[in-house]
Amino acid sequence: MTLASSSTDIASIQQLYETLTRSYEVARDRLGRPLTYAEKVLFAHLDDPSSEPFVRGMSYAQFRPDRVAMQDATAQMALLQFMTAGLDEVKVPSSIHCDHLITAQLGADQDLQSAEVSNKEVYDFLKSVAAKYNIGFWQPGSGIIHQVVLEQYAFPGGMIIGTDSHTPNAGGLGMVAIGVGGADAVDVMVGDTLELKVPKVIGVKLTGTLSGWCSPKDIILRVAEILTVKGGTGAVIEYFGDGARSISATGKATICNMGAEIGATCSIFPFDDHSASYLRSTKRDEIAELATRYCHLLQADPEVEDNPEQYFDQVIEIDLSKLEPNIVGPHTPDLGRTVSQIGDEAEQNGWPTELSYCLVGSCTNSSYEDIARASHVARQAIARGLKAKVPLLVTPGSERVRRTVERDGLLAPLEEIGAIVLANACGPCIGQWKRTDVTEGVKNSILTSYNRNFPKRNDGLASTYAFIASPETVVAYALSGTLKFNPLLDALDGTVLEPPEGEELPVSGFEPEGSGFITPPNDRASVTVTIRPDSERLQALEPFEPWNKETFIGLAVLMKAAGKCTTDHISAAGPWLRYRGHLQNISKNLFLSVNNAFSKRPGYGICKVHNQEEPLPEIASHYKEAGMYWVAIGDENYGEGSSREHAALEPRYMGAKAIIARSFARIHETNLKKQGLLPLTFADPAFYEHIGPYDTIDILDLERLTPNKAIDCLLHKPDGSTESFSVNHTMNERHIEWFRAGSALNVIKQERRA
Ligand code: F3S
Repeated sequence: MTLASSSTDIASIQQLYETLTRSYEVARDRLGRPLTYAEKVLFAHLDDPSSEPFVRGMSYAQFRPDRVAMQDATAQMALLQFMTAGLDEVKVPSSIHCDHLITAQLGADQDLQSAEVSNKEVYDFLKSVAAKYNIGFWQPGSGIIHQVVLEQYAFPGGMIIGTDSHTPNAGGLGMVAIGVGGADAVDVMVGDTLELKVPKVIGVKLTGTLSGWCSPKDIILRVAEILTVKGGTGAVIEYFGDGARSISATGKATICNMGAEIGATCSIFPFDDHSASYLRSTKRDEIAELATRYCHLLQADPEVEDNPEQYFDQVIEIDLSKLEPNIVGPHTPDLGRTVSQIGDEAEQNGWPTELSYCLVGSCTNSSYEDIARASHVARQAIARGLKAKVPLLVTPGSERVRRTVERDGLLAPLEEIGAIVLANACGPCIGQWKRTDVTEGVKNSILTSYNRNFPKRNDGLASTYAFIASPETVVAYALSGTLKFNPLLDALDGTVLEPPEGEELPVSGFEPEGSGFITPPNDRASVTVTIRPDSERLQALEPFEPWNKETFIGLAVLMKAAGKCTTDHISAAGPWLRYRGHLQNISKNLFLSVNNAFSKRPGYGICKVHNQEEPLPEIASHYKEAGMYWVAIGDENYGEGSSREHAALEPRYMGAKAIIARSFARIHETNLKKQGLLPLTFADPAFYEHIGPYDTIDILDLERLTPNKAIDCLLHKPDGSTESFSVNHTMNERHIEWFRAGSALNVIKQERRA
């Protein structure tokens, strides 16, 4: 079986379970205590279980993941980087998934055809790189990366990294699954290790069982409300308890998927009967049997479950029997309340209560069970002669799910009430939505079963208020058309809807995945990869220059982000996805959505070359032309959200030397380090307030840059006065090497030459 095979090699899983057996003994010996499940999996993937440091929340360790998955938007830059390493093939099984570049407009067939024309150059590039370097290639329309990974590659006890922040979805099948930047993926594909801060472990004890309108989505919405968007930072969220064992594998995947929204490194469920059933249903009986044999290792030690406070860093408990369906939003996934409360709360806050669109699907909620329960609500509407009152869009997660739900008559009721079925792709979940019913400035509310609801995330409009709920709840609201509706109590056409029902898995099994997968050819040496020199979408990469201490003096302050600054704010998605493989062109979106404290308009700032207000990417471009280097200032949790490395590459390319923030989101902080940028945090967070638009900053004594040692800086005010301040960093020796060499890739190349 080849590395890129469409399913996971059983021999390598057997081998991993033997490693897990040995590493478990080593871990028990080293730690002298019982282990959580996440720890067992992490230990089995340490580069050297007997010697790698393993202190939760403290030490950095080197890991060897089993697999790499890349989506088409992030794969371009990752593979452009991989190609510069000069290898014949990837060293770890890897796959590419074409899901992000398909614009939702008219429906599956037409949208797919348009995407194949408009993205031909990129698809051809990715297909040829996959063929050349022995990478599995999932064609456009075959499915959303995380759903395909769950169906094809995920297995209990494994470790996968993916160039997408919702990679943790595979935790539903017991994997440590981590979203990384493209640069981390390159490290693993070239055969190096993945460096990771050993995460803390937050235990979530689930008791009781879900019933009525409640679904796994309501569990994660409740967890997000409890932990908030920062509560999972630097941690694995490990679920356990009888309640956890009552949830389907795909329901668990929904919960793990949205762990990204609370900043978690990943989320994980132990192996159980539901995991085995899902493996069998997706035609992986051998893995189910093997995992059943090793099931004692594929869960936490019994002492952990008996005494969780002693072994987890934090424990929260949720009684599933007491949950109510939730709706979260707008603008953030941790602003939650129940469906009984949303109507009044929306009115009190002036959020539009009438819905303009409802959307079901995405990688988060497009399983067979999700569509089955949503379809049951639609069937009830048909029986009452009702249609959706607002446009309803449905995105199946994969061609395999789509074919199966179509075969089982689950799609038809949704279409009958008015739903348009979109391509098996991200579409509106990533802003790839050609919406024509409203324009910027028109306040409107949408309800989705997706995972993210930042302003502009779905339709590029800041005036859209996006709320999130489970698929079945979304369909109920599509029937009512208003947030003032409560599906538990309010009648539609005289009667209250029955709670939704749906099979967890198709009784007659899943349909085959279709022809969406391309296996690399045997003769890969003759495959050529071409990048047109005049291409506007792809550009070969030039290495960044190494550290030069003079350029860290007198740095201009390009902007000061006020409040939330996600990677979407730094490098917007939507139409810009087009340029993900062309650094120069995509850099024209730099900071375009940022709320700059120095300007009333998002994306604008004061250009010190022209002394006037201009768009931030133009200012950065003027500084680059003038040979002026700069810093950007961030607020709390700078760089949260998607893992896109462009949010680090662009500032680096445009002349940034450091980002100084109150705090950073984990993936983005690592991405900045990889690209040779300094991610620094104010030692006194209040110093953020001192920074003005015309100030310049010196970052001093970088020759003495060492782990765990603060760095001195000097702030120059326009009146000639200065203020000293100090910044912290989380760089270890290797990160410092990356910084000095100019980037992590420069270090890899130097090492290969040596
Ligand atoms: Fe796609 Fe899921 Fe991300 S649908 S955009 S992979 S959140």
